Amino acid sequence: MSFEYPKHIAIIMDGNGRWAKAQNKPRTAGHLAGSENVRRIALHANRNHVKSLTLYAFSTENWARPEEEKNYLFKLPAIFFKKYIAELKRENIRVTYIGEIERFPQNTARIIKDAVAQTAENTGLNLCLAVNYGGRREIVTAAQKAAEKLQKKEIEEITEEEFASCLMSETSDVDLLIRTSGEIRVSNFLLWQIAYAEMIFVSCAWPDFDENQFDECICEFHHRNRRFGGLK
Ligand code: FPP
Repeated sequence: MSFEYPKHIAIIMDGNGRWAKAQNKPRTAGHLAGSENVRRIALHANRNHVKSLTLYAFSTENWARPEEEKNYLFKLPAIFFKKYIAELKRENIRVTYIGEIERFPQNTARIIKDAVAQTAENTGLNLCLAVNYGGRREIVTAAQKAAEKLQKKEIEEITEEEFASCLMSETSDVDLLIRTSGEIRVSNFLLWQIAYAEMIFVSCAWPDFDENQFDECICEFHHRNRRFGGLK
């Protein structure tokens, strides 16, 4: 494609469960297929010089899921990185994360942190996994940090820039937010960073969302008239 890709794309990877159900498979099979799609879309985004791809892998609300499903989700990073860490390194993809990973089982947290360390020198796509992440939680912890800085007189006032620097992520504003599988809501994802994001909701389930569908979203993004509150 001849168009430029947005710098920061965020995806709510929804529909793994429905995808599995449609094929008479357990929900875990849907999550496994979903993780394979993380590789496909990350490689495609990287090839097209997207700077950051932030993926909602586990939300603060996902703790309400059955133990069996959560345990499988906690196992997925091990399966994924065992298979693909060499390729990610080779392809110059940098893995990062946002979210309170400390609450995850130790082994899961260790595996994700290890992938971060192994790819820290890479300069291509920033593949950021949102794990135990919630937008409200991020804003509350940022408010606490900013208030502390103010109290210690490290800053004179809480500006937007100062507040943003206290967020969990080093990532910039989101340009494009995509949600798969037909639901039209943002589900507590990157609430601060999506202030001016274009949002695209597609009906296909995450495991079926391929490079062509991704490119169609980019095409639609370019047809939107982004005014950032001004007149253009
Ligand atoms: C939402 O679909 C999906 C999730 C809660 C999990 C997303 C996780 C992955 C795609 C795997 C991530 C992989 C790595 C390596 C980090 P759902 O289960 O809510 O689907 P449903 O709405 O159809 O039930």
